[in-house]
Amino acid sequence: MDLGTKRRIARRCKAVAAGRSIPEAARWNHNIHYFQVLLDALPVDACSALDVGCGDGMLVRRLRERIESIVGIDLDVGEIELARAATPASDWAAPEFVHGDVMSHDFGRTFDAVLSVASLHHLDTEPALRRMAGLVSDGGVLVIQGLARSTNARDLLYDAVGSVLTQILKRTGSRTYYEHSAPIRPPKDSFSDIRSIALALLPGVRYQRHALWRYTLVWRRVASL
Ligand SMILES: C[S@@+](CC[C@H](N)C(=O)[O-])C[C@H]1O[C@@H](n2cnc3c(N)ncnc32)[C@H](O)[C@@H]1O
Repeated sequence: MDLGTKRRIARRCKAVAAGRSIPEAARWNHNIHYFQVLLDALPVDACSALDVGCGDGMLVRRLRERIESIVGIDLDVGEIELARAATPASDWAAPEFVHGDVMSHDFGRTFDAVLSVASLHHLDTEPALRRMAGLVSDGGVLVIQGLARSTNARDLLYDAVGSVLTQILKRTGSRTYYEHSAPIRPPKDSFSDIRSIALALLPGVRYQRHALWRYTLVWRRVASL
């Protein structure tokens, strides 16, 4: 391992350790920034939800405020342990955290909402989108927040705006930058790849590009009569 990589890892470990002391409501990062977009896309009567690649469970804890039956799944056992420890059962809901692979785990059920934040790029896009869509109940929704690769001039313009906005939000925002501890990896698909794949696989999907290196996909499964 070269010295630059060692330094980057050490910096990240330090930031992760510091992040744990930030109260949940005061945490901010690019994933958290768009949580509300996901929450706004949920059906008002959703009773069940699945968070794919749930990490330390922050989104599950937000979902718990309005959905009774929630499952978070993650391939990383350390994240699942963190999520379990940080998410005790309440009178209203007892989220379940599964250590497993979303592609092969047998949930034995479908969900009114399947959500995923910054996890799709850890998987093969097409099979993962098919799998997640297959876990949505009739009338339910698939909501994905993802990262993609910048490849053209338009993307570079977004990147420039994203950098400036990030600095402004870090310096003037009321919340503190939170470095999550979940495994990370660079995205392989470009924004336009994601849009084309989603449009081809999920009829009626809504693709939205955001300023801070993120897109969202919202797709509703038509209820069968
Ligand atoms: C960048 S992290 C995002 C974590 C969390 N959603 C957040 O926003 O902080 C991506 C997560 O996806 C998980 N993951 C990757 N492949 C997976 C799979 N096949 N099944 C379940 N989780 C997976 C990783 O372990 C990791 O925790």
